[in-house]
Formats: sequence, structure tokens, C-alpha cells
Amino acid sequence: MKNYTTIAQMREDALKILAKKPSWLERIQWKTQTWLDTYLEGWTGTGQTVHNNERAFRETEITPQFLTEKEIIYKNIPGISDRDFWKTDTFVAPTAWHKLFHPGGEYATCRAVDAYDRDGVGFMIASSFSQTPLEHLYCKKWYQMMIIQQKGVMKKVAEEAKEKNVKALVLTIDAPNGCTACRTAWDSPDRVPISDMPLLPKDKNFKGTTLKEYLAHHMPRNEWDFRNKVQYIIKNSPLPVYLKGIMTPEDAEEAIKIWAAGIYVSNHGGRQYDRGMSTLEAVKQIRDKIGGDFPLIMDGGIRTGQDIVIACRAGANLVGIGRPIHYGLTVGGEEGVKKVFEILRNERNEAFQLGM
Ligand code: FNR
Repeated sequence: MKNYTTIAQMREDALKILAKKPSWLERIQWKTQTWLDTYLEGWTGTGQTVHNNERAFRETEITPQFLTEKEIIYKNIPGISDRDFWKTDTFVAPTAWHKLFHPGGEYATCRAVDAYDRDGVGFMIASSFSQTPLEHLYCKKWYQMMIIQQKGVMKKVAEEAKEKNVKALVLTIDAPNGCTACRTAWDSPDRVPISDMPLLPKDKNFKGTTLKEYLAHHMPRNEWDFRNKVQYIIKNSPLPVYLKGIMTPEDAEEAIKIWAAGIYVSNHGGRQYDRGMSTLEAVKQIRDKIGGDFPLIMDGGIRTGQDIVIACRAGANLVGIGRPIHYGLTVGGEEGVKKVFEILRNERNEAFQLGM
């Protein structure tokens, strides 16, 4: 692996590798992976949502302060122990199918997270589309799932996750159809075999084998009362529940009302709806409304260590890394993901030293 010094360099190389259909994909035998670079960078519609995320960070001006300390809104966060709390500011956002980007898959990501455990990286959030069982992910972890029609299945999966040392549950509320970006990025994603995805919550009556059949059987498509289902899981989960996909102060207040443990500001990296507001702007608006005490984490557009500082100053307690994890996996597996953390850490530390 090259000695990268920025995430942008890793991104450029990763996309070149992915465009050439890397050899490790033959092992996985997903016949649909012809556009992996497009899948990773992909968005829905015009792509305005993901561009807004990145632009918001780029256009934020820095106000250095040297003689006095700047306030940072850190408070206690369920799912993170007090011991880790002060030194942690990033985590791995939940993303599907790490083995498409390196044979080491989620296990490689987890090893990198563990290596940076004492250096800012709190935990990884294992996506329910992971290709690795929770038992193999020995680093600190949370578990993410979509909302499915069968609420009893969600409850059972949350209980099992707790037994497997998962510290918090993330409910993704902005993906009622499953994977929207898959449709636009792939020629035929529907044949993807779900036997490769051990963490998917499955209804016991479900007999299908492909992702298309899975989504048809399980996804709500907003046909039912979404809010009540979310409330049911919060009430019945043995783990603290974060709601991922909150973008307005109104939804944030409702989340608090129904006893969510925390708010996860995200627009899914532009992979669900087009023309979405930036997550940085949403963090500011939501933090303004709910005050400093309630846990608020975010993702979307974090590409440098300065972005981390900007997001935390805007009111985020922790910041999720999405696409850059896959750039790291693609160029170097575990070492590549460690490199992503190293770059972010160096940039973030320098930003602090320079008064950001
Ligand atoms: C995602 N994201 C996502 N979110 C989720 O809740 N469950 C999932 O399985 C996935 N899968 C997924 C795959 C890939 C390839 C990407 C890029 C993203 C969204 C993810 O958690 C996060 O919200 C975005 O990645 C943040 O945007 P950036 O920073 O990656 O642009």
C-alpha cells in the first residue's frame, strides 16, 4: 500500500481499482458486481444530497482561538463507557458488504477499529447487510437494522445482539424500501444471494433466497404506521436505541418523546432521497432545538480531520465515517482502514493545535 497522506488520494486509487473489477470478487460470485466504483460513490437522482454534505464542510470558515478554550458539547452517551468517552470522537458508520471491497471484509474493519480503540475511534456499527457474523467482530460494536414489517423479529434480533456484546442498536428510519442506491448503481442487484448476509433479521415464514425477495417480504414501504413500530422497538429493546436518518428538529423532538437513547443525524450519504439538506446544517438546527445534553451523533461528508472538528463544534458528540472506510478497505484491507484513521487523527490533532 502507498503511503497515503489524504483521504482524497485513497479515494482516487480505490475508484480505479474498483472500476477494474477486482479479482477477489470472483470468490464471492455475485454476478451483479459490474459497477462497484459507481455503487460505492453512488447516489440517487442528481446527487445533490451527497454534494451538499461535502460542500457544507468545504464552505465552513474556521475561527481559530488561541488564548481561551472553545466549548465542545460532549456529554454522556449511552453505548459508550465513561472511560472511553472523553477521548472518542469517531465511529464507523454502518455500511453494507465490506467483502466486496476486500476479502477481509468487516473483520478487517473491526481489527482496524480495535487498533484505534485508544485513539479516537469508539466502535463500528455493523450493518444488517454485513457479510460477517457478529461473533467474529470482537471490537466494540453497535448493530444497525432497517425497520421491517415483523416487529417481533426485530425485538428478537435486538436481544440476540445484546448477548453478542453489542452495546447499542441503530434503527435506520430513512430507508423504508431497503436499498435505493442499489437500483440506480447496479444492472441487476436483485439476484444478490442473502445466504451471504448472516445479520439480516428474517421472518421465520420467509423462504426466499435473493435480496429482491427479502425486501419484498420484509420492507414496510411506509404502508403502516412507522412511528408506532419505532416506538415499539425502543420500548422493547434491551439495548439503547439510536434513530438514524433524523434531519429536522421536529423529528428530533419526537425521537426524544418516544424515548430514543440518541439521535443519529444522517441523510444516508445521499443514497436514499435526492435534494436533501446537508447533515452539518441539520446538526446545527437540531442541536439548537434540543439543547446540549441529549446524545447526537452524525455522518455524511466527513473526509478530513477538520471536518470532524467542525461537526463536533456544530453540536455532534460523535462523527461517523462512511465511504472513506471502503476506500481504505479497497487499497489495503485492515491496513488501509487503519490508514484512514491515522490520516483523520493527524489532521484532527493538527486542527486542534492550530486553534480550531
Ligand atoms: C451505506 N449506508 C448505510 N446505512 C445504513 O443504515 N445501513 C446500510 O447498510 C448502509 N449501507 C451503505 C453502503 C454504502 C456503500 C454506503 C456508502 C453507505 C449509509 C451510511 O451509513 C452513511 O449514512 C453514509 O455513508 C454517510 O455518507 P458518506 O460520509 O459516506 O458520504
